[in-house]
Amino acid sequence: MKKAKITVLGSYNTDLTLNVPHLPADGETVFGTQMKYNPGGKGSNQAVAAHRAGADVTFIAKVGCDGMEKVGFELYEKVGLPTDNIIRDETVSTGVAAIEVDNVTAQNRIIVIPGANMRITADEVREREELIANSDILLLQLETSRESILEAVKIAKAHGVKVVLNPAPFSDVVFDIIKDVDIITPNETEADLIAPGHDGNFQWAASDMIGMGCNNVIVTVGKQGSYYKGVKGEFVIPAKPVKAVDTTGAGDAYNGALCTALAEGKSMVDAMKFASAFASLSVTRPGAASSMPSREETEEFMKE
Ligand code: RIB
Repeated sequence: MKKAKITVLGSYNTDLTLNVPHLPADGETVFGTQMKYNPGGKGSNQAVAAHRAGADVTFIAKVGCDGMEKVGFELYEKVGLPTDNIIRDETVSTGVAAIEVDNVTAQNRIIVIPGANMRITADEVREREELIANSDILLLQLETSRESILEAVKIAKAHGVKVVLNPAPFSDVVFDIIKDVDIITPNETEADLIAPGHDGNFQWAASDMIGMGCNNVIVTVGKQGSYYKGVKGEFVIPAKPVKAVDTTGAGDAYNGALCTALAEGKSMVDAMKFASAFASLSVTRPGAASSMPSREETEEFMKE
């Protein structure tokens, strides 16, 4: 089997994860049950996911030198993810995220202070043109600076490299690049923000995104699975039921695994099945990047 080559341009955040018996209402104070610093950030989670799923991953990111980045580097060392393209900048703080996780529903709420993620420059991306050019897929989210995203897309297009965009968190940068994106992977909320006015009907939103110039739309629909609409037709890949403990990073797990499978040459249906199984396993464990399963575990789980 061909080894997938993926470049992820994206964020690193240290997640301050707070477990709570229920998510607090406005003005309510809740006693939590646990607090932990976890490696997170959508870009980093997706890079770790693709690496654990079996890809050769180049991760382009920026962190500060304030010590907050330590848990991330500990994880990269443990899983063997190369860190050569994680830029360190002592003038800025590492991205951080405050995450509340509901102990009962496993759902979360997230606030991100992006710090260094918003300081990645177009020049720094351009210096890594060859790495992007030599990849099968460039995988992006919207948690880094606009200029870094625009430059990366420009380079990928110039070299015929496929672009997969996970438009999370939603920002209007999506409208600048959607016509150059090969596959867009919003969740239901993001689909509604990109293509509003459909009363939450993500099938219609997907049609709108195709109308905006993106040929393949995958909407991730939590425990219901994922929905595809595009040049390969229209279908749903249901998710296998699991006992979720923490859904943080489930979308990231899905995107990293999806790109790995596609870059290996799998069909859209098979790649979505693999990504769905990979993401399902990730929610059975706490944390984001540290919850990513291995490829072997995923393949075993798919046989069950
Ligand atoms: O997708 C989950 C991630 O979103 C968290 O790890 C947090 O850092 C935010 O970027």
